[in-house]
Amino acid sequence: MTKAADVFKLKNRNNVEVTFIGRGGQITSINVPDSKGSIADVVVGYETIEEALAGDGYFGALCGRYANRVVKGQFEIDGEKYQLECNNDQNHLHGGSDGFNNRIWEVEAYDTNKFAQAYKLSLTSKDGDQKYPGELKVEVIYGLTEENEFVIEYIANTTKATIINLTSHAYFNLKGAGTGTVEGQNLQLNASKFTPISAEIGTVTGEIAEVKDTAMDFVEPKTVGEACAADCPQVKIVDGIDHNFVIDGYDGMLRLAARMSDPESGREMEVYTDQPGIQVYTGSHFDGSETGKLGAPIVKWAGLALETQIFPDSPNKEHFPNAVLRPEETYKHTCVYKFII
Ligand code: GAL
Repeated sequence: MTKAADVFKLKNRNNVEVTFIGRGGQITSINVPDSKGSIADVVVGYETIEEALAGDGYFGALCGRYANRVVKGQFEIDGEKYQLECNNDQNHLHGGSDGFNNRIWEVEAYDTNKFAQAYKLSLTSKDGDQKYPGELKVEVIYGLTEENEFVIEYIANTTKATIINLTSHAYFNLKGAGTGTVEGQNLQLNASKFTPISAEIGTVTGEIAEVKDTAMDFVEPKTVGEACAADCPQVKIVDGIDHNFVIDGYDGMLRLAARMSDPESGREMEVYTDQPGIQVYTGSHFDGSETGKLGAPIVKWAGLALETQIFPDSPNKEHFPNAVLRPEETYKHTCVYKFII
């Protein structure tokens, strides 16, 4: 039986090393060399596992059953109404206060020649867990390739019709966690549309808007700082970016969603997914009161979460992608974080 503080490591020939723990499958570090071989840990978090277990439980964690928000915690399937916990003001967030980030996943080595090293993480969520219908069996593969790709593959099955949206919540800082903010790092998104939010609703309005002529336009690369400093109502609501972007050309196949780069270290990362959306979050709620890696305070905009997903509140929006999983179906999701060295 895996324990909360059990530590697992994936390593490849190029000295890329991913570390995670049993609780939440939480990624606690990703060491990546730059072009000169100088290694930095590129995920925001704490110095020790003890601090990780006591600290922000979303750092690097697997989120579910429904990552992101469900408005008022309500949804309906086949005429049956469900009420989830509202753990984020008036909305449901990341599967509730005892979401998958808080669970101890069963971890075992996963043998396949696809990866330099891999692990399988499994979880069974009981019928009614956090008030979701159906028993949900989830398997997540964490695999590291010799091509410096950290691959996350999700598979899930349910015994009753339910909703699902699984994601991974690492905050990336390619200069290195603890070296300051990501304001000077570049972001490019394969997204000409995004889903605007409203302060009253606390998440998406249902609108799908063009990014053109807004701070959300990352079609060409620009710095995160430029977007965060923009005089734009959408930025003001969340003091940065906390938005879902609609991936261009979505067809259920793996495609480029995002590219992030740090001009100082030269480190670069590409994100690929077969999901329709990606939540970009600048960590605007970090206030420097917690000490993280390198003994530095975890400050506002210290990292960028790039969470591949179905859209927020999809269960209540007819025109958003389907988030319902039925017993005869299998939920599948792949996300690749590729480090260009
Ligand atoms: C993100 C979400 C943020 C915040 C964070 C958890 O996925 O977009 O608004 O809730 O998770 O701290």
